[in-house]
Amino acid sequence: MEKIGIIGLGYVGLPLAVEFGKIIDVVGFDINQSRIEELKNGHDRTLEVDMSELKSAARLSFSSDPADLKNVNYFIVTVPTPVDEYKTPDLTPLIKASETVGKVLKKNDVVIYESTVYPVCTEGGLRTCIRETQRIEI
Ligand SMILES: NC(=O)c1ccc[n+]([C@@H]2O[C@H](COP(=O)([O-])OP(=O)(O)OC[C@H]3O[C@@H](n4cnc5c(N)ncnc54)[C@H](O)[C@@H]3O)[C@@H](O)[C@H]2O)c1
Repeated sequence: MEKIGIIGLGYVGLPLAVEFGKIIDVVGFDINQSRIEELKNGHDRTLEVDMSELKSAARLSFSSDPADLKNVNYFIVTVPTPVDEYKTPDLTPLIKASETVGKVLKKNDVVIYESTVYPVCTEGGLRTCIRETQRIEI
């Protein structure tokens, strides 16, 4: 059965996970364990989604364990892209998220980056990052 993984459950990722979770199996993944615990308890501190909406996403589960992503077919990366004082983007969260995805990626899986990135970043940097993590042809 097809499964979606949302990587990063902030302002962008959580509402996306909830909408998909109404119609298809979704793993909402975040490295912040306290964020995962509060979502499991039906509370969204960003106030993007209320408790009844969270409950309506019956096919959405939450995890901070990368092993729970192993049966995912479609990965949507929604981690932050902070910038420094010179407005240079810090790609560390995106690189870490790409490594997480790369470790569980299978042939024919799809990876979508919804995080804000500059032109060529996905093709030139993040794709390479995933490939080096798992060494498969993507
Ligand atoms: N907020 C918006 O309206 C908006 C609109 C369009 C695009 N974006 C872009 O979407 C991206 C996400 O924005 P946001 O506002 O949702 O960010 P956010 O800070 O609200 O949430 C990001 C989440 O990602 C998690 N995270 C960080 N590193 C991770 C990792 N390696 N693996 C898994 N989870 C990780 C954090 O714990 C956090 O819960 C950014 O690149 C932003 O520029 C945001």
